[in-house]
Amino acid sequence: MPDRKGKEQVRSVERTWCNDLRKSHAGQEVNIRGWVFRRRDHGGVIFVDARDRTGVVQLVFSQDIHPGAHELAEQLRGEFVISATGKVRPRAAQDINPRLETGEIEIEILDLKILNVSRTIPFSLEESETPNEEVRLKYRYLDMRRNQMKHNMVTRHRLYQSIRRYVDNQGFLEIETPILNKSTPEGARDFLVPSRLSAGEFYALPQSPQLFKQILMVAGMERYYQIARCFRDEDLRADRQLEFTQLDMELSFIDEEDIYRIMEGLWFHVMKETFDLDLTIPFPRITYQEAMERFGKDAPDMRFGMELKDVAAIAANCDFKVFRENASKPGFRVKAICVPGGASLSRTDIDNLTAFVARYGAKGLAWMKHTESGLESTIAKFFKPDELQSLAHLLGSKPGDILFFVADTEKIVHDSLANLRLHLGRTLKMIPEDEKYFIWVTDFPAFEFDAAEGRYYSMHHPFTNINPDDLAMLDNPDPRVVVKARARAYDLVLNGTEIGGGSIRIHDNELQQKVFRLLGITLEEAKIKFSFLLEALQFGAPPHGGIAFGLDRIMALLLKQESIRDVIPFPKTQKGQCLMSNAPSPVDPGQLQELFIRVVGKKTEVTL
Ligand code: AMO
Ligand code: AMP
Repeated sequence: MPDRKGKEQVRSVERTWCNDLRKSHAGQEVNIRGWVFRRRDHGGVIFVDARDRTGVVQLVFSQDIHPGAHELAEQLRGEFVISATGKVRPRAAQDINPRLETGEIEIEILDLKILNVSRTIPFSLEESETPNEEVRLKYRYLDMRRNQMKHNMVTRHRLYQSIRRYVDNQGFLEIETPILNKSTPEGARDFLVPSRLSAGEFYALPQSPQLFKQILMVAGMERYYQIARCFRDEDLRADRQLEFTQLDMELSFIDEEDIYRIMEGLWFHVMKETFDLDLTIPFPRITYQEAMERFGKDAPDMRFGMELKDVAAIAANCDFKVFRENASKPGFRVKAICVPGGASLSRTDIDNLTAFVARYGAKGLAWMKHTESGLESTIAKFFKPDELQSLAHLLGSKPGDILFFVADTEKIVHDSLANLRLHLGRTLKMIPEDEKYFIWVTDFPAFEFDAAEGRYYSMHHPFTNINPDDLAMLDNPDPRVVVKARARAYDLVLNGTEIGGGSIRIHDNELQQKVFRLLGITLEEAKIKFSFLLEALQFGAPPHGGIAFGLDRIMALLLKQESIRDVIPFPKTQKGQCLMSNAPSPVDPGQLQELFIRVVGKKTEVTL
């Protein structure tokens, strides 16, 4: 770096990032640009911690050495924007700050420019403090100056670049698909955009690029990807936003095995590059059926045990009426989990857990404590000694453990025990937090049957192929048979969260029409909604399939953030509002008129 030769020269010193400076730079002249983070005035000497995107470095203003710069530094306040030029010098041993990466040096400032002033900010940017979320969202630009948010944004960027390097190497083309669209069938509510040029007609924002990516396969692009924004007007939760980002991919001439291999390669590469994590590939696979039986949900967290066990065979003969009845009714189940060390739970604890499972519809939570003399409980009297022994054996319990049972419809049993398992896993600290457990969940049913409406729904979407062994089931008039047909669909699950899903598609027009018929989509409707896809399938559509990963969810999990809002630069609240810009908001009546829109009804609070 050039020596300082007068003011003109100072301005031409190239800007240095704060966090780049180390002891080896001592004696060099540098220019720092950034914000005033902390300021300590010791009379003749003022210390300023300057902050830029990369980190913090200490600036020193000495009245004795550079009175001009010192005088100006007296005016500095938090978040003022500065350009400061000075000489790097090592700190004396007792002044070294081990909490700063640049803590071994400081910069003796020769020249200071105040580039802008700042109002007092509404919350502290210190790492030790987490301001409340409402204020953070209102002042997101200040929130992003905090280390955690900065880290989240930088890491997200690095993940994107790593993805791009891998998929480029694998021959994927990055292709954009339209935002102003016809409705796509992912099952959520559409966001509609009125058309000015076609009165009374609407575009839908894409729930995903599904139809277009399939069309790109017919177009012979063979391997497509896009980091795509998707829009779904659904009720928000910690892991859902109205607009979110998918890594969306589609490939031709492939089957499930190719998808698994290429996607495992992707995450292996990305985790190593972005997080320095060594994943073990291939990822384990579990069928939907097995996931439901063992964990009660289709996105199981397999980092710990406490699996659900079917106790119907024992329950069917016991004298406890609730168990006996549920054990033999079709569609009803009796299942249990064994909580290691749970015998120490008090009556109040058990009452609280009973209230917890009630949220999922359970009418009670039966329990048995395993003591030195076997299983003990107020309901033990309803079981013969050999039945109690069989229960302990089946659940693998030992003295000190507790068994919890739920008897009800299959849905209630699975929902309540799956959530109880997760709740206890967390509170009893049974989950190895640092483990990254990726699994493929395969063989999803193709259809669900809604008995009340008397109709089928696609479990994934209507373009998902059917396992060839199960095709004949589609012709069966009995819904109980049809819902057994397996789709060629798969999800990728990380630590119990669904982070991606996809399928091998139907590329045969006849099968596609048959699936539409089963779903009650008439040919007429299908033509209106998807005619371009149906037509394209008749022009040499190659076998194809794909997957989409929810990048917000992946980032939140890897950065250990509670909500995906923390990894999204400008997220919406649970009520779908942007607290910074105040969207959504009323618009000018003239604008509505141009769009042929009249607002009827009043704004009502949506309770979630
Ligand atoms: P799917 O609907 O399963 O598949 O979505 C893929 C992944 O996107 C993420 N995701 C969300 N993330 C945040 N907020 C939301 N509201 C939200 N909804 C979904 C999830 C999910 O696993 N077109 C198909 C993919 C395909 O078949 O190729 C699709 O969109 O992590
Ligand atoms: P009760 O006979 O209603 O006093 O219930 C005895 C025990 O069985 C209590 O611990 C209840 O919480 C539990 N229980 C009641 N109904 C169910 C059910 N459907 N599944 C599991 N446990 C139940």
